[in-house]
Amino acid sequence: MKIGLFDSGVGGLTVLKALRDKYPEVDFVYLGDTARVPYGNKSAQTVIRYSLEGAEFLLSEGVDLLIIACNTASSYALDVLRENFSIPVFGVIEPGVKHALDTTKNRRVGVIGTKATVSSDAYGRLLRSKGIEVFQKACPLFVPLVEEGILNGDIAQRVVEYYLTELKDKDIDTLILACTHYPLLKPVIEEFMGESVKVIDSAESTALEIMPFVERSGSSSLSLYFTDHSPSLNFLIELILGEPIDYKLLTLPCKV
Ligand code: DGL
Repeated sequence: MKIGLFDSGVGGLTVLKALRDKYPEVDFVYLGDTARVPYGNKSAQTVIRYSLEGAEFLLSEGVDLLIIACNTASSYALDVLRENFSIPVFGVIEPGVKHALDTTKNRRVGVIGTKATVSSDAYGRLLRSKGIEVFQKACPLFVPLVEEGILNGDIAQRVVEYYLTELKDKDIDTLILACTHYPLLKPVIEEFMGESVKVIDSAESTALEIMPFVERSGSSSLSLYFTDHSPSLNFLIELILGEPIDYKLLTLPCKV
């Protein structure tokens, strides 16, 4: 089978990596909308429109299952995509919440993401409905840090400290990285939060969530599409996927 993933940029490659590791005999198509990143400070309507355009392209590539590998798009566009397309569509929020529920002992959970994800309250609603106390914080500078390849060192540490200090005295024992880019800052975030806080993301749990729908193709192709070049694109593809992979450029909306 062929699985399609889309994200606003490179961050969703962290989800793709987890899926390829778990399902080596499946074909994947990935679309990163690098021309229009970040989605995280755009309106709901714009995020929905971009998501529909991305999904339409992936459907034209013949995917059998679609993953919105972007927390912002999952927050706003999951229901719309499910209504518009007949193939199974998954977001990253429910898997991330399940992972948090399995992890937390004191039922106090932090959520960090883009401004759009935090203000949608998509994680908050789901977690609170399970009786969890939730502490959310938007960390808008994390995405450009990652896009610039600044993943550790003094600048990364200071930005992490700037955003996360207020979460440190909330007695959380679990912190959800509710943005596809943040796993790349995980070591710095873990170091700052300390051993009492488990830092988790949705990549692994999304891979588990789709398991009942996955069928082996017997092949393992990967096509990467981006809507623009960016100086750190090749560096980040190799860093996240563990190997250099060529990509094709695409303009959205795509006339197919
Ligand atoms: N992919 C986005 C997310 O997971 C982060 C980058 C953006 O703001 O577009 O929310």
